[in-house]
Amino acid sequence: TDLYAVFGNPIAQSKSPDIHTAFAQSTGEKLVYEKRLAEVGEFVPAAKAFFADGGRGLNITAPFKLDAFSMAQELSERAENAGAVNTLLIKDGKFYGDNTDGFGLVYDITENLGWSLAGKKLLILGAGGAVRGILQPILEANPSSVVVANRTASKADELAKLFSRYGNIKGCGFTDLENSPFDMIINGTSASLTGELPPLPENIIDKNTFAYDLTYGAKPTVFMNWSAENKAVNIADGLGMLVCQAAESFYLWRGVRPETQSVINKIRQSLT
Ligand code: ATR
Repeated sequence: TDLYAVFGNPIAQSKSPDIHTAFAQSTGEKLVYEKRLAEVGEFVPAAKAFFADGGRGLNITAPFKLDAFSMAQELSERAENAGAVNTLLIKDGKFYGDNTDGFGLVYDITENLGWSLAGKKLLILGAGGAVRGILQPILEANPSSVVVANRTASKADELAKLFSRYGNIKGCGFTDLENSPFDMIINGTSASLTGELPPLPENIIDKNTFAYDLTYGAKPTVFMNWSAENKAVNIADGLGMLVCQAAESFYLWRGVRPETQSVINKIRQSLT
């Protein structure tokens, strides 16, 4: 049976084995998907050993996405732009690195949630690795404009420069945000994990604003609560992105696109 795995540290919390096992069941693909703990600094030898033993593909989660990027001998354009690799496979005898995070986000937003990005005025909060990982696919969905706002404005400016060839994008600090509501706000700050929200002007959101948090949990995130307090009605967390980035990895490995909504529902029920 073909073997796949996810590497991370920590790894116990990973839902990838449940997700890929559900995909394998629904598509009839025969595979086994495991989670593997690697010590920090030992990802590359562990991943090489995995492939040398016949492993067919890997997902990579924190803190190894940059190590996976450096291990890849060939990169997809979106992985190159993300500066990070979450999916590895062997292609033409070489380690091939891809990044399915941004595709997963766009797929979840447009296909599962049914929200449109084309022609929309987007605000993205944060300018770290998570945001860098989504910008190419987001811009390729043809929003009319993307503003990246970050606590450290210079990092948002750098990302805007890096991605300007893909569309209309600019960077700024939170206090520079315009005086009018956005069509969609995507939260990519890691602050929301610790229950904090950056200081945001309230006039950037209204009842028509779509709000998406890249993180997820059993309860609504602080960003989701803030969005609801500001009258937004279309609000989602990043569980769908998690399942959809996995689906894209599965497609890269198996050539089959699994259905995602039922898996999102199933994983949602298991969140505690
Ligand atoms: P990730 O992989 O989750 O993107 P990261 O690369 O460390 O992690 O990026 C973290 C992001 O969250 C950054 O945009 C960071 O802002 P700075 O670039 O100014 O550091 C943002 N962030 C983290 N803590 C924050 C806080 N308390 N308030 C506002 N933004 C915060």
